[in-house]
Amino acid sequence: MNILILGGGGREHALAWAIKQNPKCDRLIVAPGNAGIADVAECADLDIMDAVAVVEFATENAINFIIIGPEAPLTVGVSDALRAAGILCFGPSQAAAQLEGSKSFTKEICAACNAPTAAYGHFTDAAAAKEYIRKQGVPIVVKADGLAAGKGVIVAMDLDTALVAVDNMFSGEFGTAGAEVVIEEFLDGEEASFFVLVDGETVLPMGTAQDHKRAYDGDKGPNTGGMGAYSPAPVMTDAVIDKTLNQIVRPTMAEMNARGMPFQGILFVGLMIKNGQPHLIEYNVRFGDPECQVLMMRLGAQAFDAIHAAAEGRLKDARINWADDHALTIVMAANGYPGVYEKGSVIKAVETIPETSSTMVFHAGTARRDGALIATGGRVLAVTARGETLEQAKDNAYKMVDEINWPDGFYRRDIGWRAL
Ligand code: AMP
Ligand code: GLY
Repeated sequence: MNILILGGGGREHALAWAIKQNPKCDRLIVAPGNAGIADVAECADLDIMDAVAVVEFATENAINFIIIGPEAPLTVGVSDALRAAGILCFGPSQAAAQLEGSKSFTKEICAACNAPTAAYGHFTDAAAAKEYIRKQGVPIVVKADGLAAGKGVIVAMDLDTALVAVDNMFSGEFGTAGAEVVIEEFLDGEEASFFVLVDGETVLPMGTAQDHKRAYDGDKGPNTGGMGAYSPAPVMTDAVIDKTLNQIVRPTMAEMNARGMPFQGILFVGLMIKNGQPHLIEYNVRFGDPECQVLMMRLGAQAFDAIHAAAEGRLKDARINWADDHALTIVMAANGYPGVYEKGSVIKAVETIPETSSTMVFHAGTARRDGALIATGGRVLAVTARGETLEQAKDNAYKMVDEINWPDGFYRRDIGWRAL
């Protein structure tokens, strides 16, 4: 099979790495890819937001199956264009991608199907939003309705912060994403992520993970896309998983079906769990990054069979074989991230680290310049290891990090602390 993956981050490197190991994969192309992906696949220069260009590229290259990594192409309907052209594709339609693209849409769906989530108000003007905040009191959470690259959420512990956040959003801090604002009840508890494959009918759990969103040790500093993750998440016990499936995931999928927008792809369920009861924080319609790295490290080649079954509507007969193992990933980021950072610094010694079925350095923002590996993004590497215990996975991953020579980068020393 000729397979095309859209994207060029650590998530797509992990997907490419797992898929390449599957004997069903003949040719693997990733667009745009990165320096690490170039070791396992062909990289192609392609504008993945341009549906016409993607269809054309797939046709020219006799692609049999396309996997869409990031949310952006999904929310502009690239999957719809591919399906219209008769090309098999993994990823939800533009309509179903609203589960990530619009927070008020998701809230409305949850209300319609009684899925436990934070109480909320939806506002299109600042005065009404502020009045609601004053009435509800703090702590409270202010969210830009649209996609804001993970930055459109302000958890306000005091009234001033909440009111300023409303003003900033309506005055365009997050562009059109903030033209509408959702204000939510603050949920207390422990956060975890749950991943389920869906083919429109059947739901197949694909694993649990926890990530570390803050930049610095002790969960301090600014919010990032994720500085590390581990799988499984101990808080996601079988009982919590059952509740999540029965109270949140299945009712949501049924509601989507009832509205004529069935979901197909991977649903990333962001949860807050307190006293064994899950509440939905958010949905994403793609794998998490860096959560995907730990999921792929644990699943290996079989991940492809499950993804392929979801795209073909065969999940009813699909199985995932779980080992009793753990994986952990440490993100190395450019100094200054998530704020201003330099691009182009040289990273040394990554090549000396053995790539095995239980140790991989996944690349996020890298390129080659005159043979040298250079950093081209904020999050640059996801150093990932598997172990029989979380402790072992962590030790293995930190041993790898310690070998990498990159003075212009930083990472957290405490990934996994909550579970250890
Ligand atoms: P999101 O972009 O929706 O994932 O939000 C980013 C982060 O804000 C989440 O990972 C949570 O840590 C936090 N958050 C979002 N919504 C709530 C809420 N209702 N209560 C408490 N924390 C929240
Ligand atoms: N690591 C969180 C995300 O991918 O949204």
